[in-house]
Amino acid sequence: MLQGKKIILGITGSIAAYKAAFLLRLLVKEGAEVQVLMTSAGKEFITPVTLSALSGRPVLGDFFENRDGTWHSHVDLGLWADVMLIAPASANTLAKMAHGICDNLLLTTYLSAKCPVFIAPAMDLDMFAHPSTQKNIEILKSWGCQVIEPGTGVLASGLHGKGRMEEPEAIVQQLHTFFNSPDKKKSLTGKRIMITAGPTHEAIDPVRFIGNYSSGKMGFAIAEELALRGAMVDLIAGPVQMSINHPNVNRHNVVSASEMYQKACELFPLADGAIMAAAVSDFSPVKAASQKIKRTGDNLTIELKANPDIAKSMGEIKKKGQVLAGFALETENEEANARAKLKSKNLDFIVLNSLASPDAGFMVDTNRITIINRENKKIEFPLKSKKELASDILDYLELILVDSLNA
Ligand code: CTP
Repeated sequence: MLQGKKIILGITGSIAAYKAAFLLRLLVKEGAEVQVLMTSAGKEFITPVTLSALSGRPVLGDFFENRDGTWHSHVDLGLWADVMLIAPASANTLAKMAHGICDNLLLTTYLSAKCPVFIAPAMDLDMFAHPSTQKNIEILKSWGCQVIEPGTGVLASGLHGKGRMEEPEAIVQQLHTFFNSPDKKKSLTGKRIMITAGPTHEAIDPVRFIGNYSSGKMGFAIAEELALRGAMVDLIAGPVQMSINHPNVNRHNVVSASEMYQKACELFPLADGAIMAAAVSDFSPVKAASQKIKRTGDNLTIELKANPDIAKSMGEIKKKGQVLAGFALETENEEANARAKLKSKNLDFIVLNSLASPDAGFMVDTNRITIINRENKKIEFPLKSKKELASDILDYLELILVDSLNA
């Protein structure tokens, strides 16, 4: 299943390094070409001899192994690989990766790698739970690294908790999912796309909020299709009952519009494009009450303030080559309103969502859309499933991406 795939296997200093031998054996058995890179701490836990015998290649670790003036090029390694997999990844290596430290070949290779990077952390439960480790993992995820969550069980310290490196079979399974996403053209490989999805909730008091009926179905369908086409996806999801399970998708959960705005400001500059599919609350209470608001009279007035317009802000910071798409949800003057939004938010195209019939819009699995571009051209699509429409929208995004790169 991994026939001909080129994989860098990075091994760092953790007792779980012994599992890397099993992992390596599985990868090689499936036909992958594996280049092992070890840190010096990794070599304390398992010998390079074992790993070079299993991989059929010399194990690399130091920049200058031969002492004859030649050196190993991390740039070449980074370009060679289809995937870099760091398993086990120690807390130390995670911290260095998150802060640009590159004092060994594994880290310089990581910094220059063009391919997707998978990380399987392994450490003691308290090290894993420490805020610094969690922060580092969050940083790495926000840059598109795919973190293979450690399991819970008995650890080398004798303690019981979360920190065991995922089992080799399960790690290989994640690579299968990545490489063998159902017969899709990997037309967006190397692209990073941000997408907002779902509603936002704006707190009124500890038990009430202002929200809307958005289910997140359209946004999640697009996120999944993006991943199947090979893109690295940053999915900024409001409070929804949806799950998504693809190693290319980094999900960032938020609740309010201002949280969504902050995440988008952080991630959009790193992206090749963004699709703003969230139904963002336009207003939030000026101040959320700290205690539950009691019924005191017949009327209650809540003062609202405008939330940031996330799509518009992204339109303001959009750089040449980046593509920005939005949605318009209209109940009247549909096309005129959509065109006005396209312009005011500096979008490259807008997807007009019709609420005119019960089989389109919020909560249902089908939708009717019209895509309108900057030249005022429009493409109308018949009633289709949100999954099929996700594919239509991305076909269009791909065209615009190519145009904007050539512009
Ligand atoms: N949008 C956003 N941030 C907001 C409001 C909207 O990012 N605060 C985005 C939506 O994700 C969508 C587009 O802007 O891509 C249009 O959203 P829509 O709700 O249709 O329009 P609004 O700009 O909110 O205007 P109105 O509610 O007045 O129709």
